[in-house]
Amino acid sequence: MSWRRYGATAEDTKVAGEEFASVLRPGDVILLSGQLGAGKTTFAQGVARGLGVVERATSPTFTMVREHECVNDRGISTLHHADVYRVGSVAEVLDLAIGELVEESAVALVEWGEIASSVFGVDVMRVEFTIDENEGRTLAVTGALADGRSQELDRWAKR
Ligand SMILES: Nc1ncnc2c1ncn2[C@@H]1O[C@H](COP(=O)(O)OP(=O)(O)O)[C@@H](O)[C@H]1O
Ligand SMILES: [Mg+2]
Repeated sequence: MSWRRYGATAEDTKVAGEEFASVLRPGDVILLSGQLGAGKTTFAQGVARGLGVVERATSPTFTMVREHECVNDRGISTLHHADVYRVGSVAEVLDLAIGELVEESAVALVEWGEIASSVFGVDVMRVEFTIDENEGRTLAVTGALADGRSQELDRWAKR
């Protein structure tokens, strides 16, 4: 199955992320893919808003995983936001240990997730971003984890 949503503007894409938060449960790993500038970070900022991120943990420029504390009623207390664009190998992704980070009450969003997909296995959701000629973005959600959330994703895609 695949669920689609269109973001005509950056704010639309952010709102798509914000509302995507209601699909998420503790332990989820979401792989974001699409070319540079496709809207992955914009979407992640919306997810952060939807999960009630209250504090932006200070982090060095080259940290590839940022941790955000969340306040929401979904049982999700931490958002891990990773960008593995500069990662050179699958071994380096493993070193980031994102899978371990999400064990408990956390969720992970991984930009350039297609690079890391072999690390995370099949129990993930993928969000693929494509740019159209009018600067709009089409978001397509797929994956085994998505198939188990069809009700929530139907609602998300209808908006
Ligand atoms: N419909 C849209 N959705 C998302 N971003 C858009 C859209 N239209 C224009 N933009 C702009 O495109 C850029 C997307 O950047 P970003 O989210 O950092 O992409 P990525 O993380 O995929 O490289 C931002 O400057 C944003 O303002
Ligand atoms: Mg980005």
